[in-house]
Amino acid sequence: MASDRRPDNMVRITTTQQAEAFINEQLEVIKEQVKDKKVLLALSGGVDSSVVAALLIKAIGNQLTCVHVNHGLLRKGEPEQVIEVFRNQMKANLVYVDATDRFLDKLAGVTDPETKRKIIGNEFIEVFAEEARKLEGVSFLAQGTIWPDILESEKGIKAHHNAGGLPEDLQFELVEPVKILFKDEVRIVGKALGLPDGMVFRQPFPGPGLGVRCPGAITRDRLEAVRESDAILREEFHKYGLEGKVWQYFTVVPDFKSTGIKDGKRSFEWSVIIRAVNTTDAMSASVENIPFDLMQHLVERITHEVKGVNRVLYDFTPKPTGTIEFE
Ligand code: XMP
Repeated sequence: MASDRRPDNMVRITTTQQAEAFINEQLEVIKEQVKDKKVLLALSGGVDSSVVAALLIKAIGNQLTCVHVNHGLLRKGEPEQVIEVFRNQMKANLVYVDATDRFLDKLAGVTDPETKRKIIGNEFIEVFAEEARKLEGVSFLAQGTIWPDILESEKGIKAHHNAGGLPEDLQFELVEPVKILFKDEVRIVGKALGLPDGMVFRQPFPGPGLGVRCPGAITRDRLEAVRESDAILREEFHKYGLEGKVWQYFTVVPDFKSTGIKDGKRSFEWSVIIRAVNTTDAMSASVENIPFDLMQHLVERITHEVKGVNRVLYDFTPKPTGTIEFE
């Protein structure tokens, strides 16, 4: 199955057994392509790049170098999980770069959403390229391209894909072992490779990360409020059995303060907005009907545990008219 295109008659992978057959085929294909050369991978911790990393570790071990760039806009616990799973458990050759200060300094005072996205995207490429130049003798770049990415780029919907943007001196041959798979198949393959459920079944998370959930100019304290409130929301949805049932949920902390009362004194602090939506294709979305007792519990926890927050709101807006994210 070395083909560049998904064969028309390919059976959809739905079982562990089918996933294992795919994995075994790919291990051979990867070894054949890479031989004894070195491969580089930008490992975000998202489903696709994690599955590619796990496949390559199995196929070529330490000929793979994974670079995990923490742009400071990841969810609570994410960089730690990448280090735990790939460095500690899978013994991968993992370079971890904490570039938080670089990103946040570049983003300071920037309010326009598209400019924020561009800064994050460009800085990511710059940090990754710097790390790539430190390594010697790398011939291949591995990528988590999946079949819908290829179809969308053919239709002109979105450019294909992560490789675009690397500077001239860093041109590698590509290794794309999941490029004929649909997302649900990538998840089954990831599970068969032993990746944790929290990684394999996680919700969509935008590349610019929590940056788009901190509307306007990002400040470190407001970003921390987004990260902490998001962690509480995820923990409570998990406890309530809503994990995996609601398509996407997160918090947003807009750049305004309102009056409240804390410890008998006037407070002037931020509001956390909760967003929880269901969709099949993210083109349109409906709002989840969160049980009132859960909502009250979330308000209680967020207003007491998240620094600088005195109010919690719920976004009842479907898509359209709202998009799922705020920026
Ligand atoms: P919107 O806000 O456009 O989001 O309704 C639709 C879905 O796409 C996700 N999203 C992104 N994913 N990079 C990504 O990988 C991005 O820049 C990005 N922006 C939005 C969003 O989380 C939602 O699931």
